[in-house]
Parts: sequence; C-alpha cells; structure tokens
Amino acid sequence: MEKLVSLAKRRGFVFQSSEIYGGLGSVWDYGPLGVELKKNLTDRWWQTMVHRRDDIEGVEAAILMHPKVWEASGHVAGFTDPLVDCKQCKNRFRADDDRIKGTPGEEDAQCPECGSRGTLTLPRTFNLMFKTFMGPVEDAAAPIYLRPETAQGSYVNFLNVQQSARQKIPFGIAQVGKAFRNEITPGNFIFRTREFEQMEMQFFVKPGHDEEWFEYWRDERLRWHRELGLDTAKLRFHAHGPDELAHYAKRAEDLEYEFPFGWQELEGIHNRGDYDLSRHQEFSGKKLQYLDPVTNERFVPFVIETALGVGRLLLAVMADAYREEEVDGATRVVMGFHPTLAPIKVGVFPLVKKDGMPELARNVYDGVRKRFRAFYDEKGAIGRRYRRQDEAGTPFGVTIDGESVAEGTVTVRDRDTLQQDRIAVDQLASYLTDRLQP
Ligand code: GAP
Repeated sequence: MEKLVSLAKRRGFVFQSSEIYGGLGSVWDYGPLGVELKKNLTDRWWQTMVHRRDDIEGVEAAILMHPKVWEASGHVAGFTDPLVDCKQCKNRFRADDDRIKGTPGEEDAQCPECGSRGTLTLPRTFNLMFKTFMGPVEDAAAPIYLRPETAQGSYVNFLNVQQSARQKIPFGIAQVGKAFRNEITPGNFIFRTREFEQMEMQFFVKPGHDEEWFEYWRDERLRWHRELGLDTAKLRFHAHGPDELAHYAKRAEDLEYEFPFGWQELEGIHNRGDYDLSRHQEFSGKKLQYLDPVTNERFVPFVIETALGVGRLLLAVMADAYREEEVDGATRVVMGFHPTLAPIKVGVFPLVKKDGMPELARNVYDGVRKRFRAFYDEKGAIGRRYRRQDEAGTPFGVTIDGESVAEGTVTVRDRDTLQQDRIAVDQLASYLTDRLQP
C-alpha cells in the first residue's frame, strides 16, 4: 500500500485534498492520470450498463433532494453508527471498535487512544449523513442532506423514466454520481472516504422474479470485473448474514476483492424488495406502481441493485496493476492496466532532439492524439522516458529515430513484453487501433 500511495501521488493519480493546509480527513483529489483512469472506468461501466442494453436507462439526479426522501428511505432513522467519546482525550470511536477494552460507560472501559480508564461514554447513535441548510436562513427544522447514495434519485424518478422512455418491466435505471458519508473510521487511502462517487443501477422487476434477477446481476457483475482484467483469484462473493443486512435489504452479497490490506467489499448486489418504492409512496402520497399492459395488473416492483464505488474500484485496479520487475539488472515499476483503462495510451518520443526527429515526432504525435490519449516526451535518456510511461501504465511507446526520418518508419514498444516492432508511419494508426480498441 505504501508503494502504491507514493506512486499515486508522485505520478499524479491521487492527491490529498487541501494538502497545503494539512489535508482534509479522508477526502482525496484525482490528479491528471487519476481523472483519466476514473473516466475510463465510469465510461466502461456506462457502456456496459446503458449503451449496450435496451433495458437500462441513465439518469443524473441532483445531489440535494427533498428532506422527506431521507425519512422515507430510512436513512434519517437507520443510517447510524453507535459511537463512544473519551471524556479525557476527546476522541470518538465506533462502539464496536475492537481496540476498546471493557464496556463503554463502565469503569473498566479503556480508551484505545489515551489509555485512560472509565472515561468512555455510553454509546450514542450518530447519523452518517452530512447536513446543511437551503436558503438564507439556517433553519434547523428543515435540514438538507448531501445524499449518502445515488439510489434514491433513481427511485423517486421511477415513473418519470419508465413513462418517458416507454420502458416495460423488467428494466433498470443507472446513475453515476457523488455520495457523501461522514464515516467515523474512514481510511486505507481511497478505500473508504467521506466524499466518493458511485456507479449504481436499480433494476425493477415483478415480485416473485426478484431472486432469478438477483442471480443474473450477481453473475453479470462478476463477469464485468473479470473483463476489466482484475485477477480472478482476488475476487469472491460474501453473502450477508441476517445481522449484516442494511435496513433496506432482503438479501445482499458483496463482491469482494483482496486488497493489499485484506478481503474487502468492492461492489454490493442487493435485493431491496419493494422497500424503497413503497416507502416513497407512503411518504409522498403518490402512487409508484407499474401497470402491466398485458395482464392489467398493478404492482409495486421489486428492486435488484448493483452498487459500486468508483474510487474503490480505482484502488482495486491500481493494486492489481502494480508490479515490479527486474530488467537489465534494474528494477522497473509497471502499472499493467488493461489497455482500455490506461490513462495514456501512447507515448511518443524522438530518440534525440536533432536531425529532424522532433519535427517528425510532433507530426506523429498530432496524428495519434486525434484517436488516443497520447503523451509527447523529448526530455532525458530514452530509457528513463520509457520507465516514466511504464509507471503511468502506458501500453505503447512510439520512438522516432534516424531510420524514421530516412525511411518513414517508427518503432513501437510494448509495455509488457518489451518487444519493439518497426512499423511504417502510415500503418501506425491501424496498428494501434487493433491493439487498443476494446
Ligand atoms: N445504494 C446502496 C449502497 O450505497 P453500500 O454498500 O453502502 O450500498 C455501495 O455502498 C458501494 O459504494 C460499496 O460497495 C463501495 O464500493 C462504495 N462505498 C460505500 N461507502 C463508501 C465510502 N465511504 N468510500 C468509498 N466508497 C464507498
């Protein structure tokens, strides 16, 4: 993890938020390579979940929603962690923190931070939603929340989407967007953060068909992660026991990934039953039912949800891609990203800064970047330029040498095999397209 975090900062994948002010706890910024990688991940998800299917529509709901949404969803009452405070050092802990010895509220309890005994309070519930106010007056009676999940924006738009897109059940609503949780024990870099992005899909099905759709989505989502190139030995499912289920879930399975700090949830597949739509009917007084055009039956659909964190996936992809290798007696660090995920697809390098090489290299670069994210580098020894792109995970390096100027050819270096192919300049676009297109 230490090596990964240091590479992420050094190469511009992830920076600490507000770093010059000492940082903000568990909030992170994405740098030039990080935003490209993140965009490639969300684009790929959108392609699979929306563009390549007839039965899923996209939405982008606002982060701010009517406060009643969160009463209906159960988040005001149920999205809480029990916490204890230390009266001595003023630190706050989750009541189930296994570092706490003894029973909080009693004399035997010992603070895991300052070691004092008898200073931990009884557990109190603490809501994980961030609260703010709308309008010029801070009105405590009507707080507005930053959404803790994108899902609710899809539920309240269920009929809008179904009717405007003329969808029939079963169909889904997909959304990519920010969510916020005032996590008490955030950490492990971008694994658990207070501001994060989700890629969630809510699939509305006829009650009674929910279990078969649950299995379908569980298999589909595993397949998707495998196709990203994630090590299959590092992916597994964990079924939630009754005491692990979220307040809305009938059944849930986590797709887990073996991160450098152990097996942890990457994506959740949930059978939410009719919990959300029924609650919104109840709280809004508006019907959220589907009229089956064939049977004339009216019913509240059940929902199968797939919920994935973008930052968490990015961390898994980075951890999976990181490798160190011995080449010619030196260690090289390579981010072996799947070519479609790599932030930069092609590096373009004139061998030396003279003899017409930079001019030809610039021409080649201008041609390549019309199709692919490319990077031009003429600084330093060629070996060092290759190493820099290996660390960025760039699959191909195109080098312009003396022969290029004389013969109109370039060499293309493969990041993984280190093999170099000599290609005519006018063949370069099709050579790269064959290897970079999904
Ligand atoms: N709508 C259902 C839902 O939000 P969740 O299991 O709480 O379910 C879904 O979250 C996914 O969102 C998780 O599997 C994880 O990938 C991501 N996620 C949740 N909390 C997160 C946090 N604090 N930081 C980063 N990612 C988070």
